[in-house]
This record gives sequence, C-alpha cells and structure tokens, in this order.
Amino acid sequence: MRRPLSFSLIVMLLATDPAHAADDLLATARARFQPIPLRAPALPGNPATPAKLELGRMLYFDPRVSASRPGSCNSCHNVGLGGADGGETAIGHSWQKGGRNVPTAYNAVFNTARFWDGRAQDLDDEAGGQAFNPVELALPRDQLNAQLAAIPGYLAAFRAAFPGESAPVTLANAQKAIAVFQATLITPNAPFDRYLRGDAYALNAAQKDGLRLFISKGCAECHDGMNLGGTRYAPFGILERPGADVLPRTDKGRFMVTDTVGDQYVFKVPQLRNIALTAPYFHSGRAWDLAQAVAVMAASQIGAPVSDEENARITAFLESLTGELPRVTYPILPAAVGPPPTP
Ligand code: HEC
Ligand code: HEC
Repeated sequence: MRRPLSFSLIVMLLATDPAHAADDLLATARARFQPIPLRAPALPGNPATPAKLELGRMLYFDPRVSASRPGSCNSCHNVGLGGADGGETAIGHSWQKGGRNVPTAYNAVFNTARFWDGRAQDLDDEAGGQAFNPVELALPRDQLNAQLAAIPGYLAAFRAAFPGESAPVTLANAQKAIAVFQATLITPNAPFDRYLRGDAYALNAAQKDGLRLFISKGCAECHDGMNLGGTRYAPFGILERPGADVLPRTDKGRFMVTDTVGDQYVFKVPQLRNIALTAPYFHSGRAWDLAQAVAVMAASQIGAPVSDEENARITAFLESLTGELPRVTYPILPAAVGPPPTP
C-alpha cells in the first residue's frame, strides 16, 4: 500500500533542495572541465585529408620507420591498450635516457603539456602555439629517410598526402601525417562527458560525490580542462614527497631539463581521461591500483585528508572518465624491396 509522504519529509526535501545542489555541481564542473568533442579536432596549418590520414595510420603502425625499431608508435601507444602499453616504464623517444611510464596517445592532441619533464621543445610548442606535433625526435631525420627509401611504396603514399610537392618524403611531412592520424584518437561520450552535456543521470550518486570531492579537495586545481590534466607541470610531492617505491630518486623530472633546483621532481600533471584503462600509474609506473594512486595524490599533493570512503568515491568518479574508444583499422603496409638500412 502506498503511503503519502509525511509533511516533515517534504519539508526536509525542500530544505535540502537536491535539484538546486545538483545544478550547482554541474555549473562548477562546467567552469573547470569541458567534454571531449565528438569529432577529431582540426590542426592549425595541417588540414586533414583521407590520404594524409591513411599515411599517418601507416606510419603509426609501421615498426620499420620508428627510431625505436622494432617498435612502432603502436607498440608503446597501443590503441587496444588504452593508448599505452600496460607496462611500468619504457625507454621513450630517442632523447630520453631513463625509462618512464608511457602516456596514453588517446586525447593527447588536447594536451598542452606533453612529456613528463616538459623538455624545451614541448614548452616552445606551448608558447608558440605551434601545430600539434606528436613525434619530434621519435623519428630521427636520417634514419627516417633511409628507412622510407627502402620501402618504395611509401613514395606514392606521401605524394597522395602532399600533392604538388616535388620531394614529399620528409620528416616534417611524416610528422604532419602522424599528427592528423593521432588527432583521430579521441574518446568522446564518457559518462562524465554526457553529464557535462546535461544528462544528469550519466553519473551515479557515488560518482557525483566523487566529482564534488575532486573539486573541493583541490584535485581540480591541477587536473583541469578537457583532459583533467595535460595543461601544466607541478612538483610530485608538494606537501610530502612520496616514498622511493613510487618516486624513485634517480629521476628528478624537469630539473634534468632546466637544472634549476626548484624544478626537482617537477613532472607533467598527467591527463586523467580513460585513467581506469591505463594502469600502472605515475611516471614511474609503480602504482597498479587506481585507489592507491588516489591515496598517493591525497598524501602528497593536497592539504586535506581523504578517508577511504572519500577515496572510493573519487575513484568511482575517475572511472566515469572512460570514453568510447575508436575502432582503429590496421593499415596495409607497403612491402620493402631490400634489407632495412642499419641505423
Ligand atoms: C619505445 C616506446 C615508445 C615508442 C615506440 C613511441 N613512444 Fe611516444 N612516448 C613514450 C614514452 C615513454 C613517452 C613519455 C616520455 C616522457 O614524457 O618522458 C612518450 C610520449 C609521447 C607523447 C606525449 C604524450 C603526452 O600526453 O605526454 C606523444 C604524443 C607520443 N609519445 C607519440 C608517439 C608517436 C606518434 C610515436 C611513433 C612515431 C611514438 N610516440 C613512439 C614511449 C614511446
Ligand atoms: C599540485 C598539483 C596536483 C594536485 C593538487 C593533484 N595532482 Fe594528481 N598528479 C599531479 C602530478 C604532477 C602527477 C604526476 C606525478 C608523477 O607521476 O610524476 C599526478 C598524477 C596523478 C594520477 C596518476 C595519473 C597517471 O596517468 O599516472 C592520478 C590518478 C591523480 N594524479 C589523481 C589526483 C587526485 C584524485 C587528486 C586529488 C586528491 C590529485 N591528483 C591532486 C599533480 C597534482
């Protein structure tokens, strides 16, 4: 049998006004975060064409043209593994000595801070607003030319992608093509995106609480914008330096680029999109569990304590950041006619 709502309950409901509180949360969230767009962003000075996209796809998957042969971009930034490699660390692009955790290639096009230590190149890029260039030293010029020359099928692909150029097989064009392909590696429609677009039911109660805590505890001071990160650098251990198990003392981050004491253990604030798919965490790849990573952050980065209950909610919120991964088609790669040149 149905019973009428008691008067006091109605008064209570009106007083707490949940609808109003929910609107506040949405408005606060919208002021700090933006949804992932549904379509690949246009890159300034680098218009996408089907031929350029296909060339970029070929170069991304071809293990023969990367500096780190026999690995392709995809062996480290694996499109089936959340855009990363599922391992603790990898030796990154050729400039990089020590091993670091592979950042996801998904939504990387929206980051302005790329690379864990913000090497000069990256910051120039940021300051000058240059076109998104995902590769840089991953493809050394000499080697690229030698590799591609041994695979004549690439000439036709470069000609189609860069019509009218007399010598289209260049590192700059390879980078442009890969950038166009990488810009398609975006993951829209996460529950959090649908929430930001106005679907109040896209997040469950725990996730909404987690979002509220993520903002009120100060996580969003660093992890903000479309990718909840990828916009700035910050010391790992502002309040308390994490243990050497998570923060090995050998990798001093930005200090190794700038030689400035204040930059010791300063790292990129990583994006948190699809974070549930890309364990292990941190530049060291030493935290395998998302709740553990949140606990490390709570102790090292924010002034307020985070209870286990709060941690569970924040973690539930982070799980709402998993978007729709694109179905990426593996390209047909042109055959080589001779043995590969040795680097
Ligand atoms: C052997 C593994 C490996 C290969 C191969 C590789 N990468 Fe990376 N990549 C890394 C690592 C490790 C980093 C992080 C390095 C750092 O920040 O110190 C990285 C960083 C990046 C970033 C910056 C992402 C961000 O948001 O910070 C992009 C973009 C990227 N790689 C694209 C590519 C492309 C495109 C290719 C192919 C041409 C490629 N990578 C090949 C390991 C690899
Ligand atoms: C002062 C800036 C700052 C604040 C505040 C902050 N973070 Fe971070 N966060 C970082 C930096 C820097 C890293 C990268 C550390 C490293 O690996 O070197 C990071 C890494 C992470 C990672 C791991 C990401 C990955 O891909 O490895 C997670 C998860 C995370 N933060 C969540 C949070 C949460 C949840 C909060 C709030 C409790 C928070 N952060 C507060 C700066 C911050």
